Amino acid sequence: MTEGNAGSTRRRLAQELAVVAGFEDPRAPLEQYHTPPDLAAHIVHVSDLQGDVEDRTVVDLGCGTGMLALGAALRGPDRVVGVDVDPAPLSTARENERRVAARTDVSWVRADATRAPLCPDDPVTVLMNPPFGAQSGNEGADRAFLETAVDIADVSYSVHNAGSEAFVESFADDEGGEVTHAFAAEFDLPRQFDHHEDESRSIDTEVFRIEWR
Ligand SMILES: C[S@@+](CC[C@H](N)C(=O)[O-])C[C@H]1O[C@@H](n2cnc3c(N)ncnc32)[C@H](O)[C@@H]1O
Repeated sequence: MTEGNAGSTRRRLAQELAVVAGFEDPRAPLEQYHTPPDLAAHIVHVSDLQGDVEDRTVVDLGCGTGMLALGAALRGPDRVVGVDVDPAPLSTARENERRVAARTDVSWVRADATRAPLCPDDPVTVLMNPPFGAQSGNEGADRAFLETAVDIADVSYSVHNAGSEAFVESFADDEGGEVTHAFAAEFDLPRQFDHHEDESRSIDTEVFRIEWR
């Protein structure tokens, strides 16, 4: 695929994901905000180019209203599973699935993603934008999600707070994994929680691809 073609298929995916509705009543302790369509399309597109979507099961841990799961489903893997602990966004995710008309059906599962809720036999790619652990008492939340990726995935893509590189590299190293790709991404978070003072604020993140086996 040429760079021009790759850019246009990524843009088309972002347009298809633009209809995905976000959280109706976001819960701050669960860090409920959705990944912008451009970033979700970028993550899915890179994973597709890496051969991490076709003929695979894609699992979105902490799927919220389904942005990453649906992005993957639009690329037609064997199976897609979205896992979230909160039933409210899962119900929105089901409506979103009807809106995007994806090539692969998604199984929406209510479960704690930090307790390895699945043990699939097929090769698994995890895509996730987990809670960063920004809330007090929730520190290290992304570590628990990475631990699930170690248990169930051959390869994972995860979004973390900027400045997480040393932590992610050493976690992967300790678990016998390897960070093969990393890129920075900035996105605007609209004001949605009481503790947010501005109308929107920009957050700096880093995305990592890790091979686990
Ligand atoms: C930052 S949001 C990302 C939502 C969605 N993946 C996206 O990219 O738009 C984090 C999500 O993780 C979910 N979550 C938090 N703790 C969880 C847990 N222990 N198990 C499953 N989901 C959890 C939240 O409900 C929320 O939907």
